[in-house]
Formats: sequence, C-alpha cells, structure tokens
Amino acid sequence: MQDSILVTGGAGFIGSNFVLGWMGLSASRVINLDLLTYAGNAENLSLLDGNARHQLVRGDICDAELVGSLLRTHQPRAIVHFAAESHVDRSIVAPEAFLRTNVHGTFVLLEQARRYWSELSEPDQRAFRFLHVSTDEVYGSLGPQDAAFSETTAYAPNSPYAASKAASDHMARAYHHTFGLPVLTTNCSNNYGPFQFPEKLIPLVILNALEWKPLPVYGDGMNVRDWLFVEDHCAAIRAVLERGRAGETYNIGGMSERANIDVVRAICDIVDEMRPQPEGGSRRDLITYVKDRPGHDRRYAIDAAKIARELGWKPAEGFESGLRKTVAWYLEHPGWVERVRTGAYLEWINSNYTERVAL
Ligand code: NAD
Ligand code: TYD
Repeated sequence: MQDSILVTGGAGFIGSNFVLGWMGLSASRVINLDLLTYAGNAENLSLLDGNARHQLVRGDICDAELVGSLLRTHQPRAIVHFAAESHVDRSIVAPEAFLRTNVHGTFVLLEQARRYWSELSEPDQRAFRFLHVSTDEVYGSLGPQDAAFSETTAYAPNSPYAASKAASDHMARAYHHTFGLPVLTTNCSNNYGPFQFPEKLIPLVILNALEWKPLPVYGDGMNVRDWLFVEDHCAAIRAVLERGRAGETYNIGGMSERANIDVVRAICDIVDEMRPQPEGGSRRDLITYVKDRPGHDRRYAIDAAKIARELGWKPAEGFESGLRKTVAWYLEHPGWVERVRTGAYLEWINSNYTERVAL
C-alpha cells in the first residue's frame, strides 16, 4: 500500500471541505473520484491547483473498471466514500439516480475494494479502511420527547434518499460481516458551512435573503434538525478513520437542535446585520410558508456519546458562531455563487418552488 487515500465525491460540499482539511493536515496523497454532477464543483478545490498530492479524476463510482484500476494503480490505505445523490426533495421528484449512485455505486466500490484488499499483505489488510459516510436520516423521524438516535436505533428510512442510504449502509455492514473488509460507517446529522450547494435550506435562505427574495419554509416550520458545522464533521471522519474500530458505526451530531423557522429567522437577522438596508426593513418579512414536503420527517437528533467516549470527538463550533461564519462566507464569495447558479440550478429552483405556492 502507499500513503494515499481514495476519496469519492470530494468535489461536493462535505467532500471538498474534507479534502481541503486533509491536505493541510496530512502528507498522504488524495485521489479524488467525482462525477462532477450538478452538485460537484472542481472550483471548490481550486486552492489545490498545481498540488501534486491531489488528483481529481472525473468518473463514476458505478464504473467498476475505473474504480478497480484506480485502486490497483494508487494502492490507497483507505477509501473515504462521500459520493452520493444527497437532496431529499430531488429524491422525491426523481428517485432513480439515488438508487443508481447511492446503492449500486456503493456496492461497486465495496466489491472493488474487497478484490483489492484481498490481495494485500496481512499487515496491509489490517491497516486498510473503507469509511462509508452516511446520514442520520436512515433512522426515520423522532417525536418531540423521543430519545436521540443512537447506533442501535432501528433503521426506518422515510424518503427515497434515506432508503437509498440505508440500503448502502446495510451493504457496507454485510461486506464487513461476510468478507472481513474493514468497513466503518458514520451517520451524521445535517451539515452546513462553506461550499454547500444552494438547494439546501441554509445556503438557499442566505442567498434569497441577500436578494430580498421570498424565504420558503415548508409546512409549519417546526421540523427540527440537528445542525453540525461541516469542519466538525470532517474532524469526526478523520477521528473515525484513524482510531475507529473496524466494523463499527459512529453517530455524529452537532448537539444543536433547531426548528427550521428559528434557523431561517437567525439567518435573516445575520444578513440584516451584515448587509443592512439603508431604509431599514427586515428580511424576516420575506418568510413565506409553502406547501410541505411529502413524508417530511419531523425531527432528527443525534446521540453522539459513542464517538465522544471512544474517540474523544465533540463539535468545536457552536451553531450561532458557525452560522455567522457561513453567512459571511456566502457574502464573500459572490463569484462562486454566480457560477454554481447555472441553467440546471435555475431549472430545479423553478420546478421545486413554482408549484409550492405560499400557504
Ligand atoms: P453533495 O451532493 O454536495 O456532493 C456529492 C458529490 O458526489 C458531488 O461532488 C457529486 O458530483 C458526486 N457524485 C454524485 N454521483 C456520483 C457518482 N455516481 N460517481 C462519482 N461521484 C458522484 O453531497 P454532500 O452534502 O457533500 O454529502 C456527502 C455525503 O455525506 C453523502 O454521502 C451524504 O449522504 C452524506 N451526508 C450529508 C449530510 C449533509 O447534511 N449534507 C449529512 C449527513 C451525511
Ligand atoms: P434540507 O437542507 O433539504 O436537508 P434535509 O431535508 O436533508 O434535512 O432541509 C432542511 C430542513 O429545511 C428540512 O426540514 C426541510 C426544510 N426546508 C424548507 O423548509 N424550505 C426549503 O426551501 C428547503 C430546501 C428545506
């Protein structure tokens, strides 16, 4: 094996944050396999231009030949698997791509990893890691008084996205149990931070608020998510990769449960402060309740006691400070924003929000 890792989906939101952080902290090479779908953006990695330790390969995780050849050529000591279709609303409109990438793509990676791993020397086999990055959405929805999701909570995925991630988690588990492949799975709560594609709640609301456009809140706005700053997620993944026990799963969460309406109001206040309107006026007036998401999970909350106890990880960033940093990042990167809002983005915004009329 060589001192390199194969990252999938490393041009997306969390993957690019992970790769940028990793390159600053480690001497290993990164082979970054990404299809550059609408959600992938090579510009996220522009700080690494000319850095010989990072190689972006545009390709599909469903392409077994490509994956096998990357593994044989680069002999990585680990695979960190982020690549996925990740947006719940898109999975409701067009689920097939979720089955293809999240389920079949993960299977292809596991199978190619197993073949590569089975040829390694015994010490290299012991050292190898396959880290499968997953979500808390596999556990379904909580009531207001329910205990937070732990690693032993039964799976109950409710959206096509969550079901596809649950299926991939099961396949990852099976490859460890049946073949002994050193697989680790992480189930994380909602992330926010720089480079998030503006189809997700937080960047969408920041950009609409900046432009004085309506801020669409689904249903009654009381759905709760447990928000984690993306750099904290990346730190957790590094901890699991270096010190996690093969075959285990680790829940990762922000200890920051917030109702959507409170998140949206907080963004309004920060944007008002950072970009005040000379005549006054609050972005809160832009809040528009719209038709709910079908099957909308009411509440997610993560019990992150296991990763804290075993690996000493806990989030470093508070929600209010992380949100300020995130708003500031979007305000400071108008060029990035302009370039990700391509024809495909506008098409999605039109199709998702025109029929979601204000309630
Ligand atoms: P994202 O949609 O921003 O990025 C996904 C990346 O995967 C993109 O760069 C895309 O081009 C790439 N990709 C898609 N299909 C591919 C394919 N077939 N082959 C190769 N590359 C492909 O997603 P994200 O928010 O960064 O999420 C990354 C991972 O973390 C996903 O597995 C997601 O399920 C998980 N996760 C996300 C969150 C969150 O809040 N965003 C929370 C928990 C877990
Ligand atoms: P999202 O960012 O899509 O993440 P997820 O569905 O994976 O949790 O949505 C976060 C919450 O915000 C979720 O409860 C749905 C809600 N939401 C809105 O109210 N309005 C919007 O325009 C979007 C995109 C999401």
